[in-house]
Amino acid sequence: MSEEMLEEQRQGEAIVLKAQSELLNGKKVYVESYGCQMNFSDSEIVASIMGQAGYETTASADEADVVLINTCSIRDNAEQRVRNRLKQFNQEKKANPDKVIGILGCMAERLKSQLLEEEKLVDLVAGPDAYRELPGLIQEVESGQKAVNVLLSREETYAEIKPVRLDTNGISAFISIMRGCDNMCSFCVVPFTRGRERSRDPESIVAEAADLFNRGYREVTLLGQNVDSYRWNMSKKSEVIDNAKESVNFAQLLEKVAQVHPDLRIRFSTSHPKDMTDEVLYAMAKHENICKYIHLPVQSGNSDVLQRMNRGYTREWYFNRIDAIRRIMPDCGISTDVIAGFCGETEEQHADTLSLMQAVKYDFAYMFFYSERPKTLAERKFEDDVPLEEKKRRLNEIIQLQMEHSLESNKRSVGKTFKVLVEGSSKRSDAQFCGRNTQNVMCVFPKGDHKFGDYVQVKITDCTSATLIGEIVEKA
Ligand code: SAH
Ligand code: SF4
Ligand code: F3S
Repeated sequence: MSEEMLEEQRQGEAIVLKAQSELLNGKKVYVESYGCQMNFSDSEIVASIMGQAGYETTASADEADVVLINTCSIRDNAEQRVRNRLKQFNQEKKANPDKVIGILGCMAERLKSQLLEEEKLVDLVAGPDAYRELPGLIQEVESGQKAVNVLLSREETYAEIKPVRLDTNGISAFISIMRGCDNMCSFCVVPFTRGRERSRDPESIVAEAADLFNRGYREVTLLGQNVDSYRWNMSKKSEVIDNAKESVNFAQLLEKVAQVHPDLRIRFSTSHPKDMTDEVLYAMAKHENICKYIHLPVQSGNSDVLQRMNRGYTREWYFNRIDAIRRIMPDCGISTDVIAGFCGETEEQHADTLSLMQAVKYDFAYMFFYSERPKTLAERKFEDDVPLEEKKRRLNEIIQLQMEHSLESNKRSVGKTFKVLVEGSSKRSDAQFCGRNTQNVMCVFPKGDHKFGDYVQVKITDCTSATLIGEIVEKA
């Protein structure tokens, strides 16, 4: 490049920098996230809205003018962690009284103004559908008012907001495809904190996936509390569309995203056993880039408990869905969520959960003991009557069994070769990469001359219950 061209480029960059700094208001925002992937995804929308209002995001709470904590209410201990963190921020605020502390997400929605007015732990409260109002709410705080917005919406999907990717490896990103939940599982607080279910315009989802791919991302995870009930009616978008009744379901959405590029991997979460269709499974089988991995939370292996949980399926129906997955995609990874010690669970019913796990042999599981949540159906209708010690004992048995199954599953992979997306450096060693195979199992292997975002063939030589260990080979 000639000296002249370089100078022109420098001037151009200077203009862009000036334009950007004119948008900035000189203030910094720090966002800390708890809970599910959807909350982490929401934080990226928050960062985008705050960016539009002139705030720069910072990874340091100390240097931030505004600290926002995006919270989770799913179990009592999730809320306790956030309370402790808020107390810590309040201690630090003594040295810097102008700092604004805000609470977002499910705890904000559940407790409304309680943390502001009664507990005096925050200056601002914004529920999951109120994030567009954040800059205005902060102004209210700055002018000495109380700022609370916990209105839930039937329409808000933040569809056109371009998320600012936080904590990113530049390879994997979340895309929210729907919000809320209409299922009313009796143990669950989510329908109260997230409101009614609504799906996002498929065109905005595909556009977001394409934009990520063009920026070097190689994997997207489509997020919803029950992705199988995704449905978009085209008529919602425009009354002049010819076929006003045309609608897009989850299987069709998956195919649209899969067609963005063969090198873009697609994952999704969470599937619901009562709604997961064979059509989705066939769409997965048809496209190599839709990962062969399904997270299918079972919660309990006993049909009476499932009924009290209001899950909408029986043990037999669940087995039917597992059989369908194995029939259509024999190599599919399967994981689950389990709750131990739900209201009225007997020893025999707990044994049914263990026997279901024995039959399915999950590759991975998230396991919890039941934590009663205010206002849920279970709290109103049933007694939380399994003693804590007993819940913990049952949970322990579930965890022990799952560890055996995870190890067995990984041992079966030793000697096999998998296509792995290089996602980053291994935590343990700089000389090693890490990345997952299509079944979502983390693999660790020496770097060779590859880089982040490459697909490599990894031959597995060893394993632990959590990780596969291998080496890059030429195509198998
Ligand atoms: N929408 C997803 C799950 C969202 S919550 C689904 O339907 O599967 C994630 C997991 O937290 C649940 O699957 C459940 O296993 C667990 N969970 C939810 N509420 C709980 C409670 N009150 N006590 C213990 N675990 C709970
Ligand atoms: Fe909660 Fe059930 Fe909705 Fe999942 S499907 S978020 S467990 S109510
Ligand atoms: Fe928690 Fe809310 Fe997600 S309760 S699990 S952050 S939807």
